[in-house]
Amino acid sequence: MQKLDILALGGDGIGPEVLEAGLAVAETVAGRNDLQLNVQHDLLHGAAWDQHGTFLHDETLARAKSADAVLVGAVGGPQWDDIRVDGGPEMQDGLMRLRHALDSFAGLRPARFWAPLAERTPFRPGVAEDADIMVLREMCGGVMFAQPRGQTLRDGVRYGYDTAAYDDREVSRIMRAGFELARQRSGRIVSADKANVMESYKLWRQVADEVAGEFPDMALTHMYADNCAYQMARDPAAFDVIVGCNLIGDFLSDLAAVVSGSLGMLPSACLCDVPVVGARIKGIYEPVHGSAPDIAGQGIANPFGMILSVAMMFRYTVGRPDLQSQIEQAVERVLSAGIGTPDIGGTHATQDVADAVIRELAP
Ligand code: NAD
Ligand code: IPM
Ligand code: MN
Repeated sequence: MQKLDILALGGDGIGPEVLEAGLAVAETVAGRNDLQLNVQHDLLHGAAWDQHGTFLHDETLARAKSADAVLVGAVGGPQWDDIRVDGGPEMQDGLMRLRHALDSFAGLRPARFWAPLAERTPFRPGVAEDADIMVLREMCGGVMFAQPRGQTLRDGVRYGYDTAAYDDREVSRIMRAGFELARQRSGRIVSADKANVMESYKLWRQVADEVAGEFPDMALTHMYADNCAYQMARDPAAFDVIVGCNLIGDFLSDLAAVVSGSLGMLPSACLCDVPVVGARIKGIYEPVHGSAPDIAGQGIANPFGMILSVAMMFRYTVGRPDLQSQIEQAVERVLSAGIGTPDIGGTHATQDVADAVIRELAP
């Protein structure tokens, strides 16, 4: 029997609520496929701060490093936003530290159209039906990590600063991941940058072109990120893989969620590489959405983003794309049956949705 060690980090707000739903689906799929899940639970970000005075305890990180897969619910909340701790930028946020320490630089954030949710999108008929976008976000570098950064007094005025920076190694590995993804999809890839005005993006574009030489059968288009956002909103079906830095990828993945009808629908995987189909790789799997403090504790959070993240775990860490497809098809049937949480126009609770997916997975 294949065994899978999972570290489950619910985090804050709705994080533990959606994680529970995702784990229930994972257990169901594992049980039917001769796979044993060994799940350990631990704390992340605000929940860890309240318990340990650190956003990610070293022991939790050690567990994450030895696990096959880490499942994350969501993190954050205003009560922790202004806390500053010693150490680099990664120490200020449990999730950022986790991604950085695991070097899981490739953030795969897919957004597709779901026919039963057509009415939940702002698109007129005929625009978004074929949309199937893969935003590939660089997760371990860029302006969210580079130094120096801080706040100071400069000539009597308060001054806050960050540094946008990438080295060629960081760019080439995310571009290679992008081309590998494109190869497994339509072969089309857009790189979104601000090379018109910023040095780090001029390097980004140069390196992207160099790496493109290794993938002569793939079609690379460069777009300025502002225009890319506009074109995505106008004609989402024209895109396939979109690769961007940590910041641009963050923005564009939330934008892509519009195609799916709710931010709560979007899954993600943070990987150290993009494996060939059927290969196995460690990963962090987390919905794209945040801790949604506005609905936390009500039991109405949309669990599909988490459940679809679990599906990505079966593809990339278990090496079973067929199980990913089974879960996605079950989700589609549940949506078609009109079962969903309020954010997608439904009246159901998180738990009801998870139960419906589990019923649909029945042989
Ligand atoms: P958010 O994603 O938490 O919420 C944005 C909006 O989408 C809210 O109206 C929320 O109710 C809704 N929403 C999000 N997920 C949903 C779900 N699963 N079901 C139903 N509705 C859902 O973003 P925010 O409000 O900007 O941030 C709140 C906190 O979450 C902040 O502390 C932020 O830093 C953090 N955050 C964490 C992550 C993460 O853990 N990966 C991602 C984004 C934001
Ligand atoms: C995300 C979030 C996080 C990020 C925050 C909460 C650190 O927005 O996962 O998209 O910026 O990566
Ligand atoms: Mn985000």
